[in-house]
Amino acid sequence: MTILVTGATGNVGGKVLARLHAAGHSVRALTRDPARAHLPAGVEVVGADMGLPDTLPDALDGVHKVFLMSLGHNKRTHDANLVAVARKTGVEHIVQLSTLGVAEVEEENDTPLGLWHRQAEKALTESGLAWTILRPNGFMTHALGWAEAARGDGVVRSPVADLPEALVDPEDIADVAVRALTEPGHEGRTYALTGPEALTARQQVEVLGAVLGRGLRFEQISIEEHRAVMAGLYGEATANGVVAALRKALESGDDFRGRLFPDARRVLGRPARSFRDWAEAHKGDFA
Ligand SMILES: NC(=O)c1ccc[n+]([C@@H]2O[C@H](COP(=O)([O-])OP(=O)(O)OC[C@H]3O[C@@H](n4cnc5c(N)ncnc54)[C@H](OP(=O)(O)O)[C@@H]3O)[C@@H](O)[C@H]2O)c1
Repeated sequence: MTILVTGATGNVGGKVLARLHAAGHSVRALTRDPARAHLPAGVEVVGADMGLPDTLPDALDGVHKVFLMSLGHNKRTHDANLVAVARKTGVEHIVQLSTLGVAEVEEENDTPLGLWHRQAEKALTESGLAWTILRPNGFMTHALGWAEAARGDGVVRSPVADLPEALVDPEDIADVAVRALTEPGHEGRTYALTGPEALTARQQVEVLGAVLGRGLRFEQISIEEHRAVMAGLYGEATANGVVAALRKALESGDDFRGRLFPDARRVLGRPARSFRDWAEAHKGDFA
């Protein structure tokens, strides 16, 4: 059985790939640039671009299962491209990375970020292929963006101070993805993935400071300043989508981000990793 991993050079896909490879599964990594991809020795690598459907049949040839991820405003078209080709090449089961915000989407009145993910989910669930959808909350790895501040003046800047978020460790997302790809019984399931607690950004900074043994301070910045940083990292369209979702959360006061879900614990048979666990494991990234 061959498993194709998209986003194989990225955060979640890279972890999924490493786990599958270490466990001895036949795994193929998809990347736009095989020459630049640093992947574990022995992994089959295929060059393809999910925005270019003609590049996908070769990548999917002989593949039984897929870990499917794509980014921001490209999500609906890229996921739909891959699903359309997968139907023709005989893929059996796709495990798709979505987002927890989809659960809150109202068609007429929603932020583009939620709609992009919902459209991507529909492309899969209406395809006739077996599917499993992973809907994680915000990733704990966002705190890596605070490393420079932690090494410098110790002031962490974020637009959201007091919105509780049940962040999830991408290691747990990868663990759930591997279970869904390699065990029976996950077809037709949607898993809402959170950590075991909801913390505000202020509280996350406190935890991180305590773990690092360094006095970190939190400073609130405007949403526009945050949007500019996001646009530099991910482009205008994705930054606008993220910021619209953030504004909605702040205005509504009743947001999905603080809710806890038992799915990670149920699938993994152990508690999800906490933000303190994450910070302990990532001390080196802040040194
Ligand atoms: N961040 C959050 O808080 C959060 C919360 C909920 C859900 N999510 C979901 O998680 C996703 C992000 O996952 P991540 O952090 O693992 O992403 P990431 O680390 O940014 O991964 C980027 C990957 O995308 C691949 N890629 C980019 N454009 C591509 C294209 N045109 N064709 C093929 N591959 C392409 C890159 O491969 P190459 O460069 O090697 O081609 C790379 O492996 C989001 O898009 C969202 O759906 C995120």
